[in-house]
Amino acid sequence: METLLDVPQGKFELHRIPKRKNEKLRAWDAADEYLLQHLFENISLSTNDKVFILNDSFGALAISLHAFEPVSISDSYLSQQATRLNLATNQLSEECVQLRSSLDWRIDSADVVLIKVPKTLALLEDQLIRLQPLLTTDTKVIAFGMVKAMSASVWKLMERYIGQTQPSLAKKKARLIFVTVNGQQKQQKNPYPTYYQLENTDYRICNHANVFSRDSLDIGTRFLLQHLPKTTGINTIVDLGCGNGVLGLMLASDSTSAHLYFVDESYMAIASAKETFNSAFAERKATFCVADGLINFDREAADLIVCNPPFHQQNTVGNQIALTMFKESFRVLRNGGELWIIGNRHLGYHIELKKLFTHCNVVATNEKFIIWRAVK
Ligand SMILES: C[S@@+](CC[C@H](N)C(=O)[O-])C[C@H]1O[C@@H](n2cnc3c(N)ncnc32)[C@H](O)[C@@H]1O
Repeated sequence: METLLDVPQGKFELHRIPKRKNEKLRAWDAADEYLLQHLFENISLSTNDKVFILNDSFGALAISLHAFEPVSISDSYLSQQATRLNLATNQLSEECVQLRSSLDWRIDSADVVLIKVPKTLALLEDQLIRLQPLLTTDTKVIAFGMVKAMSASVWKLMERYIGQTQPSLAKKKARLIFVTVNGQQKQQKNPYPTYYQLENTDYRICNHANVFSRDSLDIGTRFLLQHLPKTTGINTIVDLGCGNGVLGLMLASDSTSAHLYFVDESYMAIASAKETFNSAFAERKATFCVADGLINFDREAADLIVCNPPFHQQNTVGNQIALTMFKESFRVLRNGGELWIIGNRHLGYHIELKKLFTHCNVVATNEKFIIWRAVK
């Protein structure tokens, strides 16, 4: 796989994470290349300019523009981690880029704003609203992405929150959107996070803009909630890939003594899970970790892990992250500990689970999903 990004700003070796044998995908796309080419040819950036990057995938932009010490905001811990590793690979100091979470907008103004259009429109909307007070009519705003990611709604959001849009020509199926800041735009109230009441409970579920199944309970999650394990005698429970934390929340309500860990690679997911849990159990402590799966857990640290695994990373579909989560769960569970997984019937998770675990059985099925229980 090609790993050398060759752009007018320089040549940089870039890798995706997680690293895989025989990786077939590059750590950047044609939209990153198009934007970097455009910046070089049309915008004379100075080191005094405040450059602001949103949703960089694996650091291609932040690293190519490192001379301007950009602020790079992302909701993905994996993206940030990839940027750190790629900076090191290119002998660049971490100080060249300020990596910020999607909820950390400590900044008062921006001269150049580069927005890689995210998969979730709500995240784009949240970001545009947060950007509004930082922009002046002199700020250069460019949104960019692969044409297939730029639905009509993307353009509408840009016009609604920032100002008039103008498209570039498409190049290798990528496009740039030039947005002219309309200084008269009214500062909008941010509708995120949103909340819903969890059916048959008093719990109020908090959902920041980039959270999985933000508007209502996912049907797979609902099915797993109907079949959650009993928690008698269990001390340590992990909600792995927790999203808004609804699985961990219901396990916590079943067991008043267990300690709950909520883990997700999305900053907005962890912020949501934390608010959900704290509003349900004001006096109770739990641990909230923005991390790549269970990487920071010791061996044999948990009795029960529940997971509704991710089936894509950014725009790439696949079960690689789920399989890594199964392996890591085996390491982190105590002997006799259990991993409960829900998956679409066609995903065939049991093949890997049966290879790893001592015992694996079906807990429940319906026309769409299977719940597996794997015992260490
Ligand atoms: C299918 S969603 C399930 C969310 C929640 N458990 C539910 O059932 O509503 C999968 C979650 O895994 C998270 N995720 C993806 N990759 C991850 C990783 N490497 N480490 C931790 N979480 C990850 C995603 O951010 C997402 O919140």
